[in-house]
Amino acid sequence: MKTKIRDLKTDSSLMLYLDEKRTLLEENLLRLLGRPEQYPRTLYQAMHYSLFAGGKRIRPILAIAAAGAVGGETGAVIPVAVAIEMIHTYSLIHDDLPAMDDDDLRRGKPTNHKVFGEATAILAGDALLTTAFSILSDPALYQATPPDRVLEIIHEIGLGSGPYGMVGGQQMDIESEGKGIGLKRLEQLHGKKTGALIQASVRAGGIAGGADGAQLLALTRYAAKVGLAFQIADDILDVEGSIEVAGKATGKDIVRNKNTYPALIGLDESRALEKGLVAEAIEALHEFDEGADPLRMIAGYIVERRS
Ligand code: IPE
Ligand code: IPE
Ligand code: MG
Ligand code: MG
Ligand code: MG
Repeated sequence: MKTKIRDLKTDSSLMLYLDEKRTLLEENLLRLLGRPEQYPRTLYQAMHYSLFAGGKRIRPILAIAAAGAVGGETGAVIPVAVAIEMIHTYSLIHDDLPAMDDDDLRRGKPTNHKVFGEATAILAGDALLTTAFSILSDPALYQATPPDRVLEIIHEIGLGSGPYGMVGGQQMDIESEGKGIGLKRLEQLHGKKTGALIQASVRAGGIAGGADGAQLLALTRYAAKVGLAFQIADDILDVEGSIEVAGKATGKDIVRNKNTYPALIGLDESRALEKGLVAEAIEALHEFDEGADPLRMIAGYIVERRS
């Protein structure tokens, strides 16, 4: 029997919802990536290492929640959720490289290049990115999703993760290290490096769930606000979070002279801004019924989280 996402207990606590979706995602990540013993073994081990290091899985859960908000079926969004988490994990592996943020700890464990070396870390990232697109385009993984919808999904995720989105934002981030940029440019930077993949997650989830034009527009508005709020929260955590809870080094943005919201407008204003964005995100969903409650709850969680 097919499970309707919106029939699940959306009134149960957010933590239950997140746990349930994390489990669903992780079962499917394992199933679709295959065992780490495959050849070339070191490459698969490196992919597994970062993928199963214990991330929050927010992007795939947003995709599942967006599909649920429009009454979609869980099965239709699984390839989307799996692919997005692979792309996100690749972006973290590369983000941590010495040539980029040069970090030693990620998801509470030594970073990929610390364990496997830089060459394998680069290749593990490349492999996760490309595997994501072979999963997204695998007809065997779609039960009843029409092919034009699948194409739309692939296009969305390509745009969100490439030079127009995440990779472009990473380039802006690196190039603007140590240089003062204004608020408009910082919003653009954060919108690309983090917002774009979050927006693609919500939109692709919505498309997989069968969203109509008006629903997709509302989901896009929600995601733009949530995406920016997510990176502001990350910037704040770098200032006041702890390494034990965050699972990554904190205090590094100041050391590297990164352009962040706390650096530009201070902590109090950053907190006020993220709260305002959450309220706007929730407002964007006003036409949706209780099927969108997980999206509403996740918006709040994004700024209250400690990791
Ligand atoms: C960290 O993302 C990188 C950013 C874009 C801010 P997450 O905070 O989602 O990291 P994980 O997946 O939970 O480790
Ligand atoms: C990373 O932003 C955004 C990515 C696209 C990976 P950060 O560099 O601030 O992420 P963390 O703090 O290392 O997780
Ligand atoms: Mg970075
Ligand atoms: Mg970083
Ligand atoms: Mg950060």
